[in-house]
Amino acid sequence: MIETERLILRPFRESDAADVLEYLHTPAVHCFACMKLDSLDEAKAEMKKRTEDELYLAIVLKESGKVIGEIFGHPEGTDPEDEVMDTFSPCWMLNLEYSGKGYAYEAAHAYFDYLFREKGIRRIYAYTEDYNIPSQRLCERLGMRREGLFMEFVSFINNPDGTPLYENTMQYAILKKEFL
Ligand SMILES: CC(C)(COP(=O)(O)OP(=O)(O)OC[C@H]1O[C@@H](n2cnc3c(N)ncnc32)[C@H](O)[C@@H]1OP(=O)(O)O)[C@@H](O)C(=O)NCCC(=O)NCCS
Repeated sequence: MIETERLILRPFRESDAADVLEYLHTPAVHCFACMKLDSLDEAKAEMKKRTEDELYLAIVLKESGKVIGEIFGHPEGTDPEDEVMDTFSPCWMLNLEYSGKGYAYEAAHAYFDYLFREKGIRRIYAYTEDYNIPSQRLCERLGMRREGLFMEFVSFINNPDGTPLYENTMQYAILKKEFL
């Protein structure tokens, strides 16, 4: 569990299902389209899967206990053959009812601190689509450098005619020595 001034970051519980359904019923961005949940039962099943993952954390408001978002990711090697898993690419998402209050920054900053200090992570990078200005601003507030723009890098959804909708993706990153 990670505690900040206003938030607790903790593993998910089955009882979080209704709060998560609130924001994953209609994922706010294409990159999370595959995470869409259609019912409370689906949300409960999803919570069960998440409880087993120590780096999949709920962002919880201290004052009410409400789950207002999530942050997650998995350690990676620098290449597929690498046994040293010291690279990490987090994903973050808020219930947009709670955006514009600094909660995402507060959560991500504490998560980065935990990854660098306690989980042996050396480099954190984040992908964000070129139109996702809130996510880019968050990366920049966290001190991440913009490292590149990959044109038509990925497709999460199709165009109305069934062809893949390719998106332009920005990469941001920060090293442990830069963050600390
Ligand atoms: C990306 C995302 C997490 C960013 O959320 P956010 O609310 O913009 O970020 P924060 O919670 O850190 O809030 C920052 C804003 O709150 C404002 N703010 C208000 N009160 C504040 C306070 N007490 N402390 C800090 N900031 C505060 C800041 O000025 C800032 O506003 P600005 O961006 O207009 O300057 C959110 O837009 C989201 O979940 N989007 C959908 C999912 C998504 O896109 N994920 C990323 C995929 S790549």
